[in-house]
Amino acid sequence: MVYQRAKGFEDKRPFGTQEKVYEAGYSWLTHSVAPVHFNDFDFRVKIGGPQCLQLYSASLYNISAMSFGALSANAISALNLGAKMGGFAHDTGEGGISRYHRKAGGDLIYEIGSGYFGCRNDDGSFNPEKFAAQAADDQIKMIEVKLSQGAKPGHGGVLPASKITPEIAEARGVPMGQDCESPAAHSAFKTPIEFCEFLGELRRLSNGKPIGFKLCIGHLREFLCMVKAMIKTGIVPDFIVVDGTEGGTGAAPLEFANHVGMPMVEGLSFVHNSLRGAGLRDQVRIGAAGKLVTAFDIARAMSLGADWCNSARGYMFPIGCIQAQACHTNHCPVGVATQDPLRQRALNVDDKSKRVARFHANTMKALGEMAGAAGLNDPRDFLPYHFMSRKADGQLIEGQDAYPYLPTGFLLTDDGGDYGYRSRWNRATAESFAAVPL
Ligand SMILES: Cc1cc2nc3c(=O)[nH]c(=O)nc-3n(C[C@H](O)[C@H](O)[C@H](O)COP(=O)(O)O)c2cc1C
Repeated sequence: MVYQRAKGFEDKRPFGTQEKVYEAGYSWLTHSVAPVHFNDFDFRVKIGGPQCLQLYSASLYNISAMSFGALSANAISALNLGAKMGGFAHDTGEGGISRYHRKAGGDLIYEIGSGYFGCRNDDGSFNPEKFAAQAADDQIKMIEVKLSQGAKPGHGGVLPASKITPEIAEARGVPMGQDCESPAAHSAFKTPIEFCEFLGELRRLSNGKPIGFKLCIGHLREFLCMVKAMIKTGIVPDFIVVDGTEGGTGAAPLEFANHVGMPMVEGLSFVHNSLRGAGLRDQVRIGAAGKLVTAFDIARAMSLGADWCNSARGYMFPIGCIQAQACHTNHCPVGVATQDPLRQRALNVDDKSKRVARFHANTMKALGEMAGAAGLNDPRDFLPYHFMSRKADGQLIEGQDAYPYLPTGFLLTDDGGDYGYRSRWNRATAESFAAVPL
């Protein structure tokens, strides 16, 4: 489907569904007898709370974080040019802002991981001056602190010296000839309060650009610690991206890819309801990522609380990914995930960038058609009750019963209701991520 949408070929199906509609897990959108017709499919969301000075009007479907280093120069160039043509955002990934991110001038989200690439001191710690210089670039629309990614949460990474080219060293601000480490933990903060203060510093240093963070939910209490720190410091992020364990990666240990971190649906619902419970939901936009490829995937994520969606592998197909699953070998046969100059020649930037833009545009059109079928005037109006699913026993469950929106402010008063959050909320502290005894 992605190849067809990216090439602008017919994406219709003849004869009917091949889904097993009476089996567990099947889910569908409830449509309206009064559908809405759209002519304009450029759906957008404004990102930036009250503390932000430079709001960003983001598309509802953007390119998720993938570093130069994981992806080739031609891949990054094609993605950024596609994003420029289609008017959507391209996340740099944690490997810094390379010359290939900058060439076409498409909107960038600058991701900062624990290696602080592009804004680090020689010892690997965060460098405020370098960050301010990077963030001042008009092409950088938002700043995203990476706490974790779904495919390998809690696991750092090492780019071996043998893979570091002069251009990677330039983008990351690291020396050639040495292994380049992304530690598992950040050094710029240790506690929830320090984390919020770091976000506040980034906001100040970037002259008020939208600041947010990305994580895959692990210990639920730790996220509530962050929420308490937001309340205590008054420093509220402009956005949070929730990644699911089903998310992609260039390389991850099998145990981490398969069995560490919360799947996107539960993580997203938890983040959405925690912010509602703390009365902060209206200040923070939520992005979601994790196998969100069709308009149905996007619509369902939006119904669970996402304000927009990101896709990594979804955007790899338009630039030629054939799922060879050789990203970690430097031998990607189609030039997408390799630094080998010869292999990269397989990826024609002009041709593939058009496919990136077309895939985005056709996905937005499909999303508009789904919203229209549900009788909605905007895809952001999807709510849980627009979806139904079949459970293991064959019975139906309605979206609002499976993933209800909890009352605004329920965590702020002792009698606000439990909903399975209360004991963790009571054990969460703004001062420390450490667990307190039960
Ligand atoms: C090749 C590749 C490289 C990635 N690099 C990063 C990265 O640098 N930083 C990050 O936060 N996530 C990274 N991710 C994860 C994605 O940004 C995203 O969170 C996840 O893949 C979502 O799943 P999807 O591929 O199903 O869309 C990477 C994913 C892939 C496939």
